[in-house]
Amino acid sequence: MAGTALYSGNVTKTASAQAVPTARRVNAFSYAIRNIVAEAQRVEAAGTRVRYLNVGDPNAFGFKTPPHLIAAVERAMRDGHNGYGPSPGIPAAREAVATELTSRGFPISADRALITAGTSEAIDLVLSALVDGGGEVLVPMPTYPLYTAVLAKIDARAKFYRTDPSRGWQPDLDHLKSLVTPATRALVVIDPNNPTGATYPASTRRELLEFVDRHNLVLLADEVYGDLGYDGPVDPIGKLDPDAAVITFSSLSKAYLAPGWRTGWMGVGRTPRLDNALASIKKMADGRLCSTVPMQFAVADALLGDRSHQPIFRAELRQRAEITTRSLNAIPGISCVAPIAGFYVMPQLALPPGRTDEDYVLGLLRATGVLCVYGSGFGMAKEAGFFRIVFLASPDDLTAIYGLMAEYTKQFLGQ
Ligand SMILES: Cc1ncc(COP(=O)(O)O)c(C=O)c1O
Repeated sequence: MAGTALYSGNVTKTASAQAVPTARRVNAFSYAIRNIVAEAQRVEAAGTRVRYLNVGDPNAFGFKTPPHLIAAVERAMRDGHNGYGPSPGIPAAREAVATELTSRGFPISADRALITAGTSEAIDLVLSALVDGGGEVLVPMPTYPLYTAVLAKIDARAKFYRTDPSRGWQPDLDHLKSLVTPATRALVVIDPNNPTGATYPASTRRELLEFVDRHNLVLLADEVYGDLGYDGPVDPIGKLDPDAAVITFSSLSKAYLAPGWRTGWMGVGRTPRLDNALASIKKMADGRLCSTVPMQFAVADALLGDRSHQPIFRAELRQRAEITTRSLNAIPGISCVAPIAGFYVMPQLALPPGRTDEDYVLGLLRATGVLCVYGSGFGMAKEAGFFRIVFLASPDDLTAIYGLMAEYTKQFLGQ
């Protein structure tokens, strides 16, 4: 047989030039934060400097991953931790997550902590494990697009509950209550919030916990900005009722300045009502083997070690938040609720009739190179005039950017 080809070299081609079909579910979402980059690249290719205020990546603006975390990952690689790890995560990382959540008032055992490829994968795993096709999940509006994307992927439905800019972007609880149906499975709470910069007072949080309890739902607490309150860390919502059906999510991406490591976690509340959910989530997690192993070795150092970078980061964010709110509110036609945590705001422009948020954002990009994301990318009505800004750029850059925005807005409204 030596020298005989196993297969003939040629594949018979059909004459048809049809595109390979794609799944309908892809049409159910768009990821505006990244989609808009294609237009930005065209603007850049035409010679305009683009200032990317679309993606919440602190490292892209010069903030540095703490060296002791990099050292922990390097050490892990050198020590040979380059193979697969346990699906739910290495024990040291799971124990650190449990210890940290317990110290913040949401006591869980390490067995209820799972390490994932960022908050993103944790949310994907949980929604996939808990919500059937046709199931409904209550998601805040404006939303973070990950939720709509994952729900589209599993053929489930997002039901959007309003949050209200005239009340500091607090959830509209009456609207929320009106959306529950027998198909509802979960409530997503993003607190501190992206894109609004809000955090919710204890009274609101209590109502949300009572609401999920009344309807036998699980509360998915996206707490990825929990360490980035300008006045200090924000409590996990589960602290108000450690026996509630709460699953909390966070990661190394924001408060530990390592988004590219794709390392995060979830903590599943201690109530026995979540035991089945935990088993199902673990089963789903087995299917993707494990999250990146060397990075898991930084989790204990992050959560239980030196956090001196965090007060500095919070102070930097507070300064940028103040510049942002002041500058935007000084632009005729724009109003902006002051954020209290994180690095986002969602200002509103009083649009002339017939114009959309996309008209404004694309016009701003083409005229000035300043790239924001239109509010309709977060579920808002196109005519409402919202847009989102990531304010991680340096104070000087931000001042220049808001100057450009003021000039362009004047033109836009004068048209
Ligand atoms: C509210 C919210 N949830 C989740 C994520 C995803 O974070 P991770 O990098 O941990 O997947 C982000 C990222 O911007 C976010 O803003």
